[in-house]
Amino acid sequence: MTAIWKPFAAGLSLFALAACGGGEDAAPGGDAAANIDPALLEIVETRHETMEEIGDSFKTIRDELKAGDPDIEAIQTAAAYIEEQSTKVGDWFPEGTSPADGVDTDALATIWERPDDFDAAVAQFETAAASLNAAAQSGDMSALGGAVQETGGACKNCHDDFRADDD
Ligand code: HEC
Repeated sequence: MTAIWKPFAAGLSLFALAACGGGEDAAPGGDAAANIDPALLEIVETRHETMEEIGDSFKTIRDELKAGDPDIEAIQTAAAYIEEQSTKVGDWFPEGTSPADGVDTDALATIWERPDDFDAAVAQFETAAASLNAAAQSGDMSALGGAVQETGGACKNCHDDFRADDD
């Protein structure tokens, strides 16, 4: 019996890990989401995918700044994207999309338990992303360095309190 069930169980937990940890084809919200409103699952999927895009864009900016001859256009495109998305983050966490609701997500229940603190973290990010994009569009490289620091601080500030620390 055990010899049959062990690999099966291992397969299941791999599927669960893939659900938000980078598996591209996993169903939004994963297994546990069967009874959740599809409209809410769509928002969960959007926040997951857009966060990854924000992560990629921010990495582009940092990598370009490290390069000897940074591609300012790539930096401007990435910074504009981050600013645009920063104004939407506050819409991605409606009631019913917490892990406490059975949603498979790295968002922590603290988002819904401490809404004022979460709103403050979103506002801090919006401010930082606006400075980041302003610096990028102006091409002022020294302002850009400071704005990257500020933005990185805003990502970390929110992740520390409101995102599961598993990646
Ligand atoms: C206001 C809060 C907040 C801010 C600000 C924020 N994040 Fe996130 N981020 C989250 C939460 C919550 C999740 C988990 C989402 C989920 O699993 O549903 C997440 C997930 C991610 C992920 C993993 C994608 C995923 O869903 O598994 C990456 C990459 C990421 N964030 C990068 C960034 C970067 C880079 C910044 C700053 C430029 C940033 N985030 C700013 C809250 C935030």
